[in-house]
Amino acid sequence: MAAEVPPGAALELHRVVKSFGPVIALRSGSLTLHPHSIHALIGENGAGKSTLVKIMAGLYRRDSGDFRLHGEPVDFTSTAQSKAAGIAVIYQEPTLFPDLSVTENIFMGRQPVNRFGRIDRRAMRTEVEQIFRRLGVTLDPDRITDGLSIADQQILEIAKAISLDASVLIMDEPTAALSGVEVERLFAVARSLRDEGRAVLFISHRFDEVFALCDTVTVMRDGAYVATTPIVETTVDELVRQMVGRDITELFPKQDAVVGDPLLEVEGLTSPGIFHDISFTVRSGEIVALAGLVGAGRSEVARAVFGVDAYREGRVRMLGKTVPHRNPTEAMRAGLALVPEDRRRQGLVIDSAVGGNITLAIRRRLAKWGLITTGMENRAAREWASRLEVKTHALDTVAATLSGGNQQKVVLAKWLATDPKVLIIDEPTRGIDVGTKSEVHRLLSQLAGEGRGILMISSELPEVLGMADRVLVMREGRITAEIDRIDATSENVMFAATHSSELNS
Ligand SMILES: Nc1ncnc2c1ncn2[C@@H]1O[C@H](COP(=O)(O)OP(=O)(O)OP(=O)(O)O)[C@@H](O)[C@H]1O
Ligand SMILES: [Mg+2]
Repeated sequence: MAAEVPPGAALELHRVVKSFGPVIALRSGSLTLHPHSIHALIGENGAGKSTLVKIMAGLYRRDSGDFRLHGEPVDFTSTAQSKAAGIAVIYQEPTLFPDLSVTENIFMGRQPVNRFGRIDRRAMRTEVEQIFRRLGVTLDPDRITDGLSIADQQILEIAKAISLDASVLIMDEPTAALSGVEVERLFAVARSLRDEGRAVLFISHRFDEVFALCDTVTVMRDGAYVATTPIVETTVDELVRQMVGRDITELFPKQDAVVGDPLLEVEGLTSPGIFHDISFTVRSGEIVALAGLVGAGRSEVARAVFGVDAYREGRVRMLGKTVPHRNPTEAMRAGLALVPEDRRRQGLVIDSAVGGNITLAIRRRLAKWGLITTGMENRAAREWASRLEVKTHALDTVAATLSGGNQQKVVLAKWLATDPKVLIIDEPTRGIDVGTKSEVHRLLSQLAGEGRGILMISSELPEVLGMADRVLVMREGRITAEIDRIDATSENVMFAATHSSELNS
């Protein structure tokens, strides 16, 4: 396979420009991908990475600039053309059809037919099984995709790309929702694709991944190319400087807050088969991290506490008063807020304006005076949009057109606008760039400093260790350790996340 790839660049973009009405998404995008290479593309939220990807995918047409594939000029007007030319794309947001099976999704739009002209289901299934075996995945090819975890959806997207047998494989933040084991598996697949002579593009906000996987890195800033460097010749500091144009002094600006009275008390929460006997307290001024591997049941606990999901036994109290079971409205009234993990689907009204999204959860309170005026909405929205540095030129911008990271900030703003006493936040900085990451951390620290309690679910150990006053570790639906800030190390947190409970301190 490797021998068929012509020498030289597999794909070249040079000074590509793309605007959407008044918004210039790409001022000058340049990127050269080579066969036998895993190339990283990094930059802040809104830098133009996904826009560049969508041009390669044929989803957008560039306004100007050069685009070549294996040396030949190309100009895709559809995703089908890009696919046919050998470019496979795994998008930042999974694009699966929930009512179709795993196999049907993988072959969407290009089902093989047998000699009778019928869709060859057996051939499809056999191929899917082969791909899954290669990926080390145990997913039922016949199940409906609705209800799959984000990690599994991502695996499906990867399987889809592999089945295309593409010479260029583009992955836009594929690891954002994967656990450590799953990331390793994905890396192994990416490396084997590289060894076969394919060009792989990898977009990520995680430097450790970029350094572990990639051989070359291109940095973008404000819609333009900044630099391309062999990975061995650069450092995290250097890349950060290229990305944000300044040094970032503190990644985890944790302030010491005065820890006060209990705000949220959870006692013996149990949902059979999902989580068992979960008890913990979040006090005023405190950041409590819920650590563990993906699948340990952390998000499920958060959803039950906030009343989105049911639980069978146990009790949730806010300020001493029982929070009614399965009633998010009452939970909000009691002072709880939940920023969910899957923000695009659970947190954002994608077709609504940014401003409306931010004020969605506080409409009721704003409406206390009879009617909501646009002015009132805008004031509330503007405050949080600016505190979180949502990069959009207007609050009436439709949420769907924001970059992935900025969409996340909108969801965060929406819940912060409810002025919660306890904020439950699931993976606060997933998909958020370094600069904004430290802003989000600063904000969490500030919120705690104001006397709020924060329950933070995080799969990133540095974030857990950097931000938490106390770490609760979950494994297989149970809390296996509770570790104070001064005692918490990556070793003891990881140990509790992967072994049974001997570590309780
Ligand atoms: N369809 C669109 N309509 C209007 N503006 C758009 C559209 N698509 C992207 N943009 C804007 O273009 C800019 C670049 O967005 P893009 O999604 O490429 O960023 P990104 O580098 O992928 O960021 P992230 O790290 O957050 O995913 C953003 O300001 C975004 O709001
Ligand atoms: Mg993006």
